[in-house]
Amino acid sequence: MNLLELNEISVEYQLGKNNILALSNVSFSMYPKEILGILGESGSGKSTLALTIMRALPKNARIIGGEVIFNGKNLLNLSEDELNSIRWKEISIIPQNSMNSLSPVHKIRDQLRDILLLHEPKLDEKEVINIMEEKLRLANISEDVLDKFPHQLSGGMRQRILIAASLLCNPEIIIADEPTTGLDVVTQYQILKELKNLQSAKGFSMMIISHDISVISNTSHRTVVMYGGKVVEIGPSDSVVESPLHPYTRMLLEVQMEISKKTQNELHSRTNFNKPHKSVGVNFTHHSGCPFVQRCPFATEKCKTEAPTLLKVNNDHYVSCFLFNK
Ligand SMILES: Nc1ncnc2c1ncn2[C@@H]1O[C@H](COP(=O)(O)OP(=O)(O)O)[C@@H](O)[C@H]1O
Ligand code: SF4
Ligand SMILES: [Mg+2]
Repeated sequence: MNLLELNEISVEYQLGKNNILALSNVSFSMYPKEILGILGESGSGKSTLALTIMRALPKNARIIGGEVIFNGKNLLNLSEDELNSIRWKEISIIPQNSMNSLSPVHKIRDQLRDILLLHEPKLDEKEVINIMEEKLRLANISEDVLDKFPHQLSGGMRQRILIAASLLCNPEIIIADEPTTGLDVVTQYQILKELKNLQSAKGFSMMIISHDISVISNTSHRTVVMYGGKVVEIGPSDSVVESPLHPYTRMLLEVQMEISKKTQNELHSRTNFNKPHKSVGVNFTHHSGCPFVQRCPFATEKCKTEAPTLLKVNNDHYVSCFLFNK
């Protein structure tokens, strides 16, 4: 049974006189108790996807079509009041930028308390404190942070506070948007391990969004690969990494292997090994044809004018490419 179902979601942004198609007919499902990885380069539409599910898109965004079904309801049709009863309690998000997501002028205690009381107004102060402390412990951070301001904390600590915040109301789904980007590798590793342990202990479903294939493959049961606002491949993470189908996924893996080789070399020479991500770029000018056509070594004339659709290749593994769908 599906816990969350996205059907044909399309979203555009208005930027001056231009419309940017950030998501184009995105469809996939999320199962109960799974970690679903969303993998794609910067600009491929991952955060837009998270914000669409949370109905928290910026004002210049427009949902052109599609539905997000959760517990039999289309979240895109709900009123603001109905949505407020779902946000945090049923679905919560660990947003992409921890510095921007926390108020700089309020102590962590006040920020966590506000979230909790908004959804559980009947709690008394003692219960609020107990819950905040319990969630901070789960996120592996000391309760001392309650009396701190965000600028007094490291990036890893702020990220753990956002994880604790996402757990406050015991949601069924947690969406973690680039949960470790910008952190040092040791903290990245620890936080990902903790998120995985939390998910299996608590049994919620988690969507982990990342541009980094190693983050996704080390955490997720299944992987959705996005390119240019479209889903290009979905499958069990093991199959996606061991037998990638889409030329873009293969390219990502090659880039990853190159980075790990360099990383090894750099580690040996004791230089900084938190390498910046190497982008392979996304072209948004294409509204017809395959989104990957300009970079694809296998592209044919057909790829320029016709858009491939997701087709099942084997088991739970789907790809959108004419190499598999002639
Ligand atoms: N607020 C915005 N206004 C205009 N364009 C935006 C906005 N946010 C994102 N975009 C554009 O939408 C596309 C998808 O962005 P985003 O969802 O942030 O991708 P990702 O999270 O994969 O990096 C990009 O081309 C980006 O420039
Ligand atoms: S449909 Fe064509 S351009 Fe797109 S990934 Fe497949 S072969 Fe390449
Ligand atoms: Mg993003």
